[in-house]
Amino acid sequence: MHLLQPLAVLAAVTAVAGVAVNPLPAPRNITWGSSGPKHLAGPLTLRSAAASNSTIVTEGWNRAWETIVSLQWVPAATEAPIAHYAPFPTGVPPVKREAPSPSLRYVDVQVADVTADLQHGVDESYTLEITAESSSVEIRSQTVWGALHAFTTLQQIVISDGHGGLLVEQPVRIEDAPLYPYRGIMVDSGRNYISVGKILEQLDAMALAKMNVLHWHLDDSQSWPVHMKVYPEMTLDAYSPRDTFSQEAIRRVIGYARARGIRVIPEVDMPGHSAAGWKQVDPTIVACADSWWSNDDWTYHTAVEPTPGQLDIIYNGTYPVVQQVYGELSGLFTDDFFHVGADELQTGCYNFSHYVMEWFAEDASRTYDDLAQYWVDHAVPIFQNVPERPNRRLIMWEDIVLSTPHAHDVPKDIIMQSWNNGLTNIANLTALGYDVIVSSADFFYLDCGYGGFVTNDPRYDVMANPDASVPNFNYLGDGGSWCAPYKTWQRIYDYDFTTNLTDEQAAHIIGAASPLWSEQVDDVVISSKMWPRAAALAELVWSGNRDKNGNKRTTLMTQRILNFREYLVANGVQAAPLVPKYCLQHPHSCDLYYNQSVIQ
Ligand SMILES: *[C@@H]1O[C@H](CO)[C@@H](O)[C@H](O)[C@H]1NC(C)=O
Ligand SMILES: *[C@@H]1O[C@H](CO)[C@@H](O)[C@H](O)[C@H]1NC(C)=O
Ligand SMILES: *[C@@H]1O[C@H](CO)[C@@H](O)[C@H](O)[C@H]1NC(C)=O
Ligand SMILES: *[C@@H]1O[C@H](CO)[C@@H](O)[C@H](O)[C@H]1NC(C)=O
Ligand SMILES: *[C@@H]1O[C@H](CO)[C@@H](O)[C@H](O)[C@H]1NC(C)=O
Ligand SMILES: *[C@@H]1O[C@H](CO)[C@@H](O)[C@H](O)[C@H]1NC(C)=O
Ligand SMILES: *[C@@H]1O[C@H](CO)[C@@H](O)[C@H](O)[C@H]1NC(C)=O
Repeated sequence: MHLLQPLAVLAAVTAVAGVAVNPLPAPRNITWGSSGPKHLAGPLTLRSAAASNSTIVTEGWNRAWETIVSLQWVPAATEAPIAHYAPFPTGVPPVKREAPSPSLRYVDVQVADVTADLQHGVDESYTLEITAESSSVEIRSQTVWGALHAFTTLQQIVISDGHGGLLVEQPVRIEDAPLYPYRGIMVDSGRNYISVGKILEQLDAMALAKMNVLHWHLDDSQSWPVHMKVYPEMTLDAYSPRDTFSQEAIRRVIGYARARGIRVIPEVDMPGHSAAGWKQVDPTIVACADSWWSNDDWTYHTAVEPTPGQLDIIYNGTYPVVQQVYGELSGLFTDDFFHVGADELQTGCYNFSHYVMEWFAEDASRTYDDLAQYWVDHAVPIFQNVPERPNRRLIMWEDIVLSTPHAHDVPKDIIMQSWNNGLTNIANLTALGYDVIVSSADFFYLDCGYGGFVTNDPRYDVMANPDASVPNFNYLGDGGSWCAPYKTWQRIYDYDFTTNLTDEQAAHIIGAASPLWSEQVDDVVISSKMWPRAAALAELVWSGNRDKNGNKRTTLMTQRILNFREYLVANGVQAAPLVPKYCLQHPHSCDLYYNQSVIQ
């Protein structure tokens, strides 16, 4: 290709001069000057009054500095001007300039409020400034959580000078704050066990991408991995004694996350997706656990995927157990938010419950919607009454409001996580007045497109490449799995989830999260399926997918995410490659369109 100027090729390979490396996520406002890069005089010393009151700042800076020193990072993907188009702002080609003095010696951090807790909506803004005249990096933030974001920005822009020293392009001024307060990924340790080590690896990546919520889908009908004091027998339904989380391990995850500005929000999915663990306490509280899940004869299905099991909504022994389990976990998990599931209730499952069948027989007018309402009426008061969490807010999957069956009246202060029908359901829920977390499966589900997982499936026994002539092959569409195809990072980044919402509706969106359901995920593949695609979501909810003129900046994101993938790997996160390495070393040479405004 002919797109590159020779100087830029040299920069991509050796990076001996200053490079204005734009971090991921792109800051809301970053302004570079042109007087030339500055060297670091030696170790940057933290100077912060906040440090004496908060180990978060000191430890956060120590981590960032150790990373800077140990990686001696050379950004793999710089940007180059391209003929006929304005230069891309993810890196200017180096010009030989005098590095102005003085060189950098300090990081000065001023935090306005060191006591602000890490909870929903805490101020995460920061400014970062390096000027020609000063020997310090100036960071200001409202809270220690904002200071952490400043550090992950700084560690991405300080790079190797190619001769054993470190430098940073400057002057630079960054004003930064997230668009949305809820920016997450979802890990599922119920379908397959995910070890603490791999969860910490997700947290490392999240911190670099400025994501602040780990939604932890703890269990599912298949396994219960969490050690409970109140019912130690629940972990008899872990996959093995090793495939469990002690409460100490969970506290370690929460502490590790908090040190990085990440909240851990647990999910115990109820009343659907519930068998393992619960049935050890009392088999009667679980309906249909021993049924055939029956998707081969859909009329008789009791679950949408193996393994069946739902909490019995009418049997009154269910609720005391729910209360005990939820109460203990509410003491363990320190976040104000708790996710209580409520998705995919399958009516056929309750054919196996005498209690539910008798309840219907007592009054012929009762419907499954009434049954869903019975759950809401009896379970939500338990969930909302947690003395040690006075600010408790609940999250539920949208099904409880929008699916068949659904409850008639779900309290409006419960946050809905939307995963079906893309913009339609977001519009519906926000119009109803619910706060919404966007997780639209067609855009954000990271487990899609790897083929169906259920076995003994004759649809794969076809001697031609399946197409429309094989209706419904692989559960809807090319690539297999019910939510195929695979979601590329560009698909994720380009999702305009506020399209056609009124301002009032849009204000109800508190953020987004990318789930990675783990039917086909365990320690071996979790990081490569999660990253770097989750970083596309991270930027989408941090600073958006448009430039200040309102144009989509997906093509500019390319070099950022390719570079960020290399950075994740360097930081020990097993992120998947997105392109042949040639494409990252030769910016835009792998674009489909030469026209850089083709994505709108
Ligand atoms: C971005 O920062 C620059 C430098 O501080 C400032 O001049 C400009 O007004 C800011 N732009 C926006 C959109 O805030
Ligand atoms: C640190 O805490 C002390 C005691 O609470 C307080 O007087 C001081 O102002 C705090 N310093 C900062 C920087 O917040
Ligand atoms: C449950 O009962 C209904 C009504 O009789 C029936 O249509 C459905 O097939 C049954 N489902 C199962 C799983 O038995
Ligand atoms: C459940 O109902 C039975 C029969 O009405 C009653 O004896 C029992 O106390 C109830 N148990 C709970 C936990 O409410
Ligand atoms: C939301 O969807 C439900 C169920 O499909 C429908 O009854 C309701 O009218 C919709 N509401 C809005 C505000 O779109
Ligand atoms: C948004 O609304 C416009 C005008 O009603 C309509 O033409 C367009 O299809 C809508 N966009 C989406 C994505 O629904
Ligand atoms: C690039 O694509 C956009 C969108 O299709 C179009 O408006 C513009 O004219 C194209 N530019 C050139 C130089 O072809």
